[in-house]
Amino acid sequence: MLLILGLLLAGSPGAEAILKAHCYACHGATPEPERGINVLDLPALIEMGIVEPGNPKSALLRVVESGRMPLKGKKLTRKEIDVLRRWVLEMGKAGPVRPGPVIPHEHANAPRS
Ligand code: HEC
Repeated sequence: MLLILGLLLAGSPGAEAILKAHCYACHGATPEPERGINVLDLPALIEMGIVEPGNPKSALLRVVESGRMPLKGKKLTRKEIDVLRRWVLEMGKAGPVRPGPVIPHEHANAPRS
């Protein structure tokens, strides 16, 4: 279980890690973030209309794709932008819980070896 969790975390950096590394300094870390945006506060991002779950034209995606953000510093790589886009698109899908592997009923209660 812990191993699986570790593998997931060690995989490609998630959207949150990217936002934290490239945006948070200006949008969240200070008492008065730029435009009042805290990139790690997803409910607020949605409420402000910066992230529209499922919409690839969300403001957050538009500013990184056009290269307007990050305002200073290194631009995001194609891969990082893809991670953000998938993050927004995945959010739009109904139900975050994906069905697990189907366990045939007769095996479900079998004693573990
Ligand atoms: C160096 C500081 C800085 C960094 C880093 C930065 N921003 Fe910004 N951001 C600003 C400033 C200043 C504004 C307001 C002026 C503007 O819109 O150009 C802004 C505005 C925005 C807006 C609002 C745009 C609009 O049309 O109103 C969004 C969305 C945004 N940033 C997202 C991001 C994202 C996502 C990142 C990381 C990939 C990021 N920013 C990184 C300084 C920064």
